[in-house]
Amino acid sequence: MPTTTWNRHHILSLADFTAVEYDTVLQTAASFQEVLSRRTKKVPTLQGQVVANLFFEPSTRTRSSFEIAAKRLSADTLNFAASTSSMTKGETILDTAKTYLAMGTDIMVIRHREAGVPNAIAQEMDRLGVRVSVLNAGDGQHEHPSQGLLDLFTICTLIDPANPRIELLKGKKIAIVGDILHSRVARSNIWSLTASGAEVHLAAPPTLLPKFFADYFSEETTNSPIPIAPYPQPPVPHRPLFLHWQLEPALRDADFVMTLRLQKERMTTHLLPSLREYHQLFGITRHKLTLCQPDVKVLHPGPVNRGVEISSDLMDDPEFSLIQSQVTSGVAVRMALLYLIGSGKV
Ligand code: CP
Repeated sequence: MPTTTWNRHHILSLADFTAVEYDTVLQTAASFQEVLSRRTKKVPTLQGQVVANLFFEPSTRTRSSFEIAAKRLSADTLNFAASTSSMTKGETILDTAKTYLAMGTDIMVIRHREAGVPNAIAQEMDRLGVRVSVLNAGDGQHEHPSQGLLDLFTICTLIDPANPRIELLKGKKIAIVGDILHSRVARSNIWSLTASGAEVHLAAPPTLLPKFFADYFSEETTNSPIPIAPYPQPPVPHRPLFLHWQLEPALRDADFVMTLRLQKERMTTHLLPSLREYHQLFGITRHKLTLCQPDVKVLHPGPVNRGVEISSDLMDDPEFSLIQSQVTSGVAVRMALLYLIGSGKV
């Protein structure tokens, strides 16, 4: 493992991650990627610790990859699903968390449909003065930090597998396309990708990319206005973020295209005329990729609506699609996160 000082106790957001922290995660994940290529894919790092996956909202890849990551680090794992828990009898979220605390949990990995729940549990653990770390596994429309980090790792290891680091993305053009309004993945990726010096272009219909969205990223991080750019405009220094209500300017010469799921379960009103029109205008297809760099790669955090945000054939095409690599990277990156916040607890 890289020798480093890691001071972050909880991982709740990427908004205040430093370049050193990104590189530490990337390099630690690269070490675990090597471990995962061995015949014996297990290390004793978190032996004796308990990792509880508290998932109050459905998940396939995040829950399972945190579980396998914890097991590869020799931790004991507990898996909670709200639908089969005592929450169905009225138990509160905080009482559920305290119940897991009382069973000796060291790390809580939390997913919830409401933004802020992992932060609230982390605050409660701190108030109680216990050394439990909280990892946000996706909260509402707020953030999904481990997804942002595994996307970063997937891209950086493609460029330099032996030495992934964020400076590799400086000057790269990355398009994030789709349901940005509802996407916690987009929010975490915007923090990490703009921190790397990549030029980040967001593209969606106005209903899924409202103008106020830019304020969220501009307020704390830069005093410069962020351009709304149906037409090309010069980049903002420090955090080059562009918003487009058309696909073409976002895709033109892009090195990476990150497409997002239409989150129908979070849409409270009719935001689109039809899925067919959406696919025509914003769905990513092989033909539309001809606007991009010849070696462009496509990412999607999953789960995917095949034929809506991405064509089914493109999703399965290993020449362009990094979707399976993202899932594989997720295990090494989540091992890195559990290791960084968990080592030193015993
Ligand atoms: N990307 C992601 O969070 O997928 P799951 O909902 O399956 O965990």
